[in-house]
Amino acid sequence: MNWQPCIIQGGMGAGVSDWRLARAVSSRGQLGVVSGTALDQIFARRLQDGDPGGAMRRGLEPFPFPAMAERIWRAYYIPGGKARDAAYQSLPLPAKDNPRALQELCLVANFVEVFLARQGHAHPVGINYLEIVQIPHLPSLYGAMLAGVGYVLMGAGIPTRIPGVLDALAQHQPASYELKVTGAQGGDDTTLRFDPADFRECDLPPLARPRFLAIASSHVLAASIVKRANGRVDGLIVEGPTAGGHNAPPRGALQLDRAGEPVYGDRDQVDLEQVRALGLPFWLAGEYGTPERLRQAWAAGAAGVQVGTPFAFCSESGLARQARHAILAGVAAGAARVATDSRASPTHFPFKVVQFPGSLSDAEVYAARPRICDLGYLREAYRTPEGEIGFRCAAEPASTYVAKGGKLEDTVGRKCLCNALLANIALPQRRNGQRTEPRLLTAGNGLLDLARFLPAHGYDYSAADVLHALLAPA
Ligand SMILES: Cc1cc2nc3c(=O)[nH]c(=O)nc-3n(C[C@H](O)[C@H](O)[C@H](O)COP(=O)(O)O)c2cc1C
Repeated sequence: MNWQPCIIQGGMGAGVSDWRLARAVSSRGQLGVVSGTALDQIFARRLQDGDPGGAMRRGLEPFPFPAMAERIWRAYYIPGGKARDAAYQSLPLPAKDNPRALQELCLVANFVEVFLARQGHAHPVGINYLEIVQIPHLPSLYGAMLAGVGYVLMGAGIPTRIPGVLDALAQHQPASYELKVTGAQGGDDTTLRFDPADFRECDLPPLARPRFLAIASSHVLAASIVKRANGRVDGLIVEGPTAGGHNAPPRGALQLDRAGEPVYGDRDQVDLEQVRALGLPFWLAGEYGTPERLRQAWAAGAAGVQVGTPFAFCSESGLARQARHAILAGVAAGAARVATDSRASPTHFPFKVVQFPGSLSDAEVYAARPRICDLGYLREAYRTPEGEIGFRCAAEPASTYVAKGGKLEDTVGRKCLCNALLANIALPQRRNGQRTEPRLLTAGNGLLDLARFLPAHGYDYSAADVLHALLAPA
């Protein structure tokens, strides 16, 4: 397969690039990418909402392990959906030896998302994961591969061990992944393990090994991933600090400008000559969503571009319609703004947030939110004094974080992205029937440029409109 996309619709978690968006892009011959982040939680909540439209059931029907599919369906499906004010079921927090039920949920949820994105066309579909959300990786990848995922894209960390995992899982062989544990000592068992044989209900032929694209913010990181990878890297996505979502921090000591945003300097410029020298196809990301920027990327030797923000706000996106329209109204009025918040994310990576004049600031919203950590994807694994593996999150109650050995100053300004990202896609947790988890919306610096997609009336444009605009002749 020598085909290469010139436009990759970037993976956008959680659930922003869902199966509908990825299918809309792939069916038009470019690469649609579903987000694999927190799919277990998303899938379970869709079932608790009664599976409106029946897509989850359709995706489960071809799942090759029917007893597992049945267990998941029974555990979460609520005919007609839960009462509006009722809370979603709590899932066990991810842990090194993840309960089997959670691994099954990851496997099934990743299968269904990819399967649905592949319906109705013959083009490849990709899946995106954040390397730092490590615990679900192995069952998630296996589920996505069972559904025939064509590409795996991974950033937010250094994914050198993923190629080997893909090779093993394609042969239904056991795979392992090192969990990063702060303070781990020689002799500690920090290895995540997954054996497909423990989950398979039947024999299956070998699976196609998806292509692996690593996302890197610099030529140094790109070169290091290619050199140290334990298997084939098929390409690179070079993403700059204007992109939506999480960004790599500036190199060197963190400096903030007067608005409190990280300052990126000359050392953060990517040397594309060095990227070209690696001899792999590459795509450029971070405000590349215009035909001019696509041509610039081609002129620099790139195979194309990865684009997020214009797709995040199109009609097929998983973002809650009301939030999407509110932001696009802000765009039309020239009033929406994007800031790079170096404190919001518990991961310590800078995170882009959309701001509106006139609404409560994020700081005010989060000052009123009791700190609760009940999803746990972004927690840091650490070695406890007893030599066990514990988990802490800088956005959990400060006293709890400090009791686990975290530093108090690390908790300042942190926001629960796990709950916020699910709220963004209309799957917010309800607390005691009274409080709804708040949203925290992210977009790239190119947000205001979306005005060019807006129709004369309303705020709906499609993924096809974005592709059409990008591929318009000069
Ligand atoms: C809403 C949103 C969520 C994102 N989530 C992720 C993610 O989960 N994983 C990831 O690798 N990149 C993520 N990104 C980055 C995109 O995949 C893409 O690289 C980026 O948006 C490109 O820059 P642009 O926003 O200027 O188009 C996200 C971007 C947006 C706008």
